[in-house]
Amino acid sequence: MNKTAIITGGARGIGRAAAIKLAEDAENIVIIYRSNDEAAAATCEEIRAAGAEAKAVKLDVADFDAVKVAMEELKKEFGQIDVLVNCAGITKDGLLAMMKESGFDEVIGVNLKGTYNMIRHCTPYFMKQRKGSIINVTSVSGIIGNAGQTNYSASKAGVIGLTKAVAKELVSRGIRCNAVAPGFIETEMTAGIDENNEMINAIPMKRMGKPEEVAELISFLASDKAAYITGEIIRVDGGIAI
Ligand code: NAI
Repeated sequence: MNKTAIITGGARGIGRAAAIKLAEDAENIVIIYRSNDEAAAATCEEIRAAGAEAKAVKLDVADFDAVKVAMEELKKEFGQIDVLVNCAGITKDGLLAMMKESGFDEVIGVNLKGTYNMIRHCTPYFMKQRKGSIINVTSVSGIIGNAGQTNYSASKAGVIGLTKAVAKELVSRGIRCNAVAPGFIETEMTAGIDENNEMINAIPMKRMGKPEEVAELISFLASDKAAYITGEIIRVDGGIAI
């Protein structure tokens, strides 16, 4: 049976790089994206050029019922789901004293609940297959906490707890669940940060990371090379959270 990998947030940034890298090891790549049709179409072209079939699905990962329907359809179309990469994420930064309730709820809704929704609706298929690899994209913010990002840090710390609990719960079914924790990576999410920023200076490697450097790790964790690794959180951060 052909191998199928689903990558949320796969149209751009880290998810895009992961989708293209995973195309080297899977026959079918499904990217899930929120709004940018053009970016999704362009990424699909790059996936095909890398040697896999590509499909883009427009879906809000924060919507429990919509995710359920979409996973049922993907399972019908591809026969099985082998790899799930939860990369969709948003920020709504601001000081806690001024943070709106909606800004807190939205970030938790996409980053944490969205990750739960995807895992929840893929797990029945993983369990039947007795096989599956889940990779969640958390952040160093979820490990060390960032001022101005209480909502985001909470959501990413939640993803770390979720990863470890899922790993323990599903290990007997042949399912592995790990997380990668990027530091500052050059994507649209960090487009406002300039090279001379003091945050960049605080990185021991003195530079931002590239999406491809995170994608390498995601691809490793997705593969059988990581067959004995589960419940692990690996930083890709140039040393900023040492
Ligand atoms: P990005 O903003 O370039 O990409 C985020 C992707 O998530 C977009 O493709 C967007 O369509 C998708 N998305 C957002 N909300 C969605 C929703 N409700 N449903 C479906 N898709 C949705 O961001 P980037 O930088 O590539 O980030 C990817 C992941 O890596 C995020 O989870 C982010 O929190 C995490 N991360 C990024 C870091 C960075 O420095 N860029 C550092 C640490 C973690």
